[in-house]
Amino acid sequence: VPTKYEALASDIVNLIADGTLKMGDRLPSVRESVASRGVSPATVFEAYYLLEARGLIEARPRAGYFVKAMPRAREEPRSALPGTAPQDVAVHDIVQSVLGPVRNREFVPLGSAFPNPALFPLERLARGMGSAMRRLDPRQLLEDLSPGNAELRHQLALRMLGQGMSVGTDEIVVTSGAMEALSLSLQAVTRPGDLVAIEAPTFYGCLQTLERLRLRAVEVETHPRTGIQIDALAETLRRHPIKACWFMPNFQNPLGALMPVSAKRELVQLLSHRQIPLIEDDVYAELYFGPERPLPAKAFDRDGWVMHCSSFSKSLAPGYRVGWVSAGRFASRIERLKLMGTLGVSVPAQLAVSHFLKHGAFDKHLRHLRSALALRQQRALRVIEQHFPEGARLTRPEGGYFLWLELPEKVDAMALTEAARARHISLAPGTIFSADRRFAHHVRINIGHPSEEALESALRVIGKLVTQAMA
Ligand SMILES: Cc1ncc(COP(=O)(O)O)c(C=O)c1O
Repeated sequence: VPTKYEALASDIVNLIADGTLKMGDRLPSVRESVASRGVSPATVFEAYYLLEARGLIEARPRAGYFVKAMPRAREEPRSALPGTAPQDVAVHDIVQSVLGPVRNREFVPLGSAFPNPALFPLERLARGMGSAMRRLDPRQLLEDLSPGNAELRHQLALRMLGQGMSVGTDEIVVTSGAMEALSLSLQAVTRPGDLVAIEAPTFYGCLQTLERLRLRAVEVETHPRTGIQIDALAETLRRHPIKACWFMPNFQNPLGALMPVSAKRELVQLLSHRQIPLIEDDVYAELYFGPERPLPAKAFDRDGWVMHCSSFSKSLAPGYRVGWVSAGRFASRIERLKLMGTLGVSVPAQLAVSHFLKHGAFDKHLRHLRSALALRQQRALRVIEQHFPEGARLTRPEGGYFLWLELPEKVDAMALTEAARARHISLAPGTIFSADRRFAHHVRINIGHPSEEALESALRVIGKLVTQAMA
């Protein structure tokens, strides 16, 4: 639980991040903050010192504290125009070899896909699990096999209703993380050899699933800030018999791209009209820095063609492996596949999450988590602005915990990853995010895992390595 001054500091960071407080704006005086927040002057001073130490604000003698100028902002990375031909996918070996070190505790895990587990309410979850299991009616153990615990599915449906999705409990199937939700969804609507439209770059887990199911990929232009380009998708659909699309409209991994609402609506209309299923991966949506959770494409689904997949792995309970799919017209097919595969998800894990949703303060936890991530992003952006050479392009996602860097073409991301590994820092090179390894001078950086100090010093090291690589 953050202290009072950390909470105040992260509120201010959020105001800076969402543009409410702009460069040069004066922060409320200590006396004003004491009055408005009901905290002590010492708390306000601590918060302001913290922000000052992080380079976000500056004290001007006798005038107060001001939001500091960001160094000149970097340009954003460019869209890569993917090849239009269908491709076989074979990425697993390279993904394994690159991501192996991520799990080593000695490494600064800039290459990891997970946020720092210390940011999660693990103790409360464990207590919830304990009390739910003690009160368990033994018959429930079998009832909670696929499609999953009824109370959990009810809680999920309620939550989704509040987020603009009207999803019946009976279309929700609980899965082992989002990964299984995505993979069952894909399996439900394809056969080996079929074509699947994906983003470029995309999450390597998507590529690995295509590889395992022997599906072929058609990459669609994906803008680093606005995601899938609808025109490009329409063209792909004209050219190829696409059987399914797998997209991440909210805080895409690895780009952090957020599709505008109008594009999400068009996307669902385009696909529903052609009766093409959309597999929507929405695992990062709760990690928004703006005023509200971005809508999923599922919010525009009238005819059940969208399979909305998510999990608690990134937002509440990493390692519990609790995810779900709201599967629309494909729900019974997916429930059947789940039963035929692994029967169901561990009941204690389902109960722990369900108990937390019902009694715990999920939204309160999320507020802290989002602030912590927004704070880290600000800090990382500053370090990169200052320590990376000219020509490095950088995203500024409005949520999640990834940054995507397009480095000058001279820099080989795989060689950079090797050099970083020798200094006990992991990176996720762009190479693992596409079937044709096109993103060869790009890297994805996780700002949500390392401690803030480790993050800053590791980024400086990477900046130096990039400079050397360019020399
Ligand atoms: C975009 C994306 N989808 C899905 C997953 C997998 O989620 P889970 O751990 O719930 O299976 C990840 C995890 O890295 C991810 O980044």
